[in-house]
Amino acid sequence: MNGEIIFDYADAGNFVKKHELEALEAQVLAAHETLHRYEGPGREYLGWLGWPLHCSREDEDKIARVAAQIRERAEIFVVIGIGGSYLGARSALELLGHSFYNQLPREKRGGPRIFFAGCNLSATYLAHLWDLIDQQDLAINVVSKSGNTLEPALAFRFFRTMLEKRYGKKGARERIITTTGEKGALRRLAQQEGYETFTVPGDIGGRYSVLTAVGLLPVAVAGIDIAEIMAGARRGCRLYDEEKLVDNPAYLYAALRQIIYRKGKIIELLASYEPSFSLFTEWWKQLFGESEGKDQKGIFPAGVSFTADLHAMGQFIQDGYRNLFLTTLWLEKPPQDREIPPLAENIDELNFLAGKSMHYVNKKACAGTIMAHSSGGVPNLKIIIPEMTPRCYGQLVYFFEKACAVSGYLLGVNPFDQPGVEAYKNNMFALLDPK
Ligand code: PA5
Repeated sequence: MNGEIIFDYADAGNFVKKHELEALEAQVLAAHETLHRYEGPGREYLGWLGWPLHCSREDEDKIARVAAQIRERAEIFVVIGIGGSYLGARSALELLGHSFYNQLPREKRGGPRIFFAGCNLSATYLAHLWDLIDQQDLAINVVSKSGNTLEPALAFRFFRTMLEKRYGKKGARERIITTTGEKGALRRLAQQEGYETFTVPGDIGGRYSVLTAVGLLPVAVAGIDIAEIMAGARRGCRLYDEEKLVDNPAYLYAALRQIIYRKGKIIELLASYEPSFSLFTEWWKQLFGESEGKDQKGIFPAGVSFTADLHAMGQFIQDGYRNLFLTTLWLEKPPQDREIPPLAENIDELNFLAGKSMHYVNKKACAGTIMAHSSGGVPNLKIIIPEMTPRCYGQLVYFFEKACAVSGYLLGVNPFDQPGVEAYKNNMFALLDPK
């Protein structure tokens, strides 16, 4: 491994022929050109494309400065947001941080405990979070590009009221950070109250915004190196800029999933073998689901966490309705490994594994699973991540963003809008406020 993410489709071999890939080459090139010439549908939301190369150093410095203040003074940091204004940050924290970050003692964490709110309408969730916060010193970051999304707006109402009651207006002001677009209700409120504010660029949509302050501020509060994340994203930006299909792993992934989809495999399961990928899977689901699921088309993105889900979904994947394919996220070198100890009596009959590492066993589970699923009629794609560093995270994010954009164009949809999200909102508001 040379430190790069590898896309491996050897296990899709039976399902995808060489000539099928060749036949798609011209379409991929066309999608690449449409994207890079800013000519396709959704071109007004292509700010993410060159963002890692062009974003300002000052923004990064400001994020680092504000994060350092929060790390020093807050015991609890609550990030309020939903969808693209929440999943990126949470996925990065889970992937790059300690599995039990919030449970660690302060000296091991180095920063506040971090929780999320505004990502549902559950009063119970909010009340339980309240119980946990109790009298501990609190800072909040409300993230909403539009500034008028109901879930975060309501959560923010509760938190702002609580902060002002507890610390007064001035004290609350010192503990509220907003991340929002150039216009909207939250921007106006932030200006009126003088809150520290980060701007979400108008040309970067929510699900493409993790590499802006939307994702980077919470991540920096956890002490994760955001400069390294951006360095990885810049690397991705250069690598996945290659217009030739066979030389661009992101385009190969996009092309292969389209070939497989056109053969009736309409569900993609993203499988990982580390529980720390569960929120990343949610981020990926949103990225692809909201980008591709339109005009009565699209691959349905779903996720499984192995090996746990082999004991729950394995039967269906192996033997159920044949309309799915699997993309495995494989972490080559996990942050930790443990040698399996010998047992004097070998009562569990597992001494043949003594001296081997847990990761070795995990790797064999992955290989065995892919072999089984392939023979069961499930195409397998594999993305190999050398290690879970901030740099690899940045590159991985950009890999999927680029693949998703090209995949959307191959599908013939606008990957950057989400008109379907409005339908439930219209109904909900009509029911809440019938005039
Ligand atoms: O990807 C998207 O655009 C959406 O998921 C939004 O991020 C989500 O609806 C939250 O929107 P906002 O940031 O405007 O509150």
